Amino acid sequence: MRRPRTIYNTEPQAQRAFLVGVEIRDPEYCDAHARLPLESSMEELALLCKTAGLEVVGQTTQQLDRPNPNTFIGTGKLQEIIAWRDALGFDVLVFDDELSPRHQRELEEAMGETVTVIDRTALILDIFAQHAQTREGALQVELAQYEYRKPRLTRMWTHLARQAGGGAGRSGTGGVGLRGPGETQLEVDRRRINERMTKLRRELEEVRRQRALQRNHRKRGEVPSVAIVGYTNAGKSTLLNALSKADVLAEDKLFATLDPTTRRVRLPRGHYVLFTDTVGFIQKLPTQLVVAFRATLEEITEADAVLHVVDASHPNAIEQAQTVVETLNELGAGTKPMVIALNKADRVDPARRNSVAVGLLSEGIWISALNREGFDELLAEIEAALFERLVPIRVRLPYKAGDLLALLRREGLVESELPEERSLLISGRVPGRLLGTFRPYAAPRL
Ligand code: GTP
Repeated sequence: MRRPRTIYNTEPQAQRAFLVGVEIRDPEYCDAHARLPLESSMEELALLCKTAGLEVVGQTTQQLDRPNPNTFIGTGKLQEIIAWRDALGFDVLVFDDELSPRHQRELEEAMGETVTVIDRTALILDIFAQHAQTREGALQVELAQYEYRKPRLTRMWTHLARQAGGGAGRSGTGGVGLRGPGETQLEVDRRRINERMTKLRRELEEVRRQRALQRNHRKRGEVPSVAIVGYTNAGKSTLLNALSKADVLAEDKLFATLDPTTRRVRLPRGHYVLFTDTVGFIQKLPTQLVVAFRATLEEITEADAVLHVVDASHPNAIEQAQTVVETLNELGAGTKPMVIALNKADRVDPARRNSVAVGLLSEGIWISALNREGFDELLAEIEAALFERLVPIRVRLPYKAGDLLALLRREGLVESELPEERSLLISGRVPGRLLGTFRPYAAPRL
């Protein structure tokens, strides 16, 4: 019996997925975003499938010097997978690596009518579509899906159309071409997609303008903001809930959070800060996809500091933390004051803690978001990073920005100043929360 071509779990019986992972040896062809060993990456892929509502029925892996230009995997491996298809009857073939449009076409051709071929990126987009909760989130996902799928306009298309219509909580997609791969139909589909993308971009700009207005209102209130970042499932939402006793969705699934949620929290010495939950990071998340989620990411780039939550009980805790730090660097947020929370302490034997808190994690503070442990120390550290600890800056302040110079003298330290024609070149120190205020005036370091 043929099932509908969608990877959603819309039927009582879950769609069956078969996973494929490839380890590429030639560094020239390696995924720059890959960090986990193949085995862990495959485990993560299985969890992503579960989150998307798929039942994983099997998997296979292969080592290759470089991908096969036609089918990504080797021909022998492909035959093996076809044999698995006949034996297991799976509906979806999920690749751990991003497939080019050509790979996708060739593989679909080889797998035949009953199997949909997708890759990690498509899977993540699916999950994003299911979880986006705000209008902005839904718009972002839909746009990212079109961008990803446009060059891959093949049979998989019906799957997208279904998603765009329901998954992201949106109604109607303007009847994007559902039928099939005839040449003219493809052209019609492409034009419709382009029209739809233009419309989505316009709508997004409008929603973003509104958000920027709201953020400016908040900024004027002068309450510093802290973006809670972390690998997906690290416990960010649980921590925000516990800190603010708010009820933000916390689930043991990947990417339960797709839209930022902000809460006000009082720190031990009486300062207030705004904590914002953000989308979880994940390895092999293509930059184009990261960029698509500007709404949540703006919360990070605009924040005064970053609270990096790590699932310290995870065997790949350090690799996950590195992925997060790299993504922050890519976003230009790598220089913000960062406090690391080593979460899920309740699952780590105290005797093992020293061996976990190494390298990047050595500065971390042990907490359990679930049991509300370690919060006093964590909040005191955030307060110190924002209000007490001074961080070096070098800025070129125009003479007419006298209020900023006064602010710098009042709250920070001026170590040297050099008058120039229109501005003052200053080296000094400011509390972390003011870094953002001075960032537009940053002068290159000597
Ligand atoms: P994404 O939305 O995927 O980015 O996840 P998140 O980082 O917001 O994680 P979330 O708060 O949803 O927590 C993920 C899972 O970890 C949930 O099942 C939580 O109950 C669990 N969890 C969070 N903190 C702790 C903790 O301190 N200890 C234990 N044992 N489990 C925790």
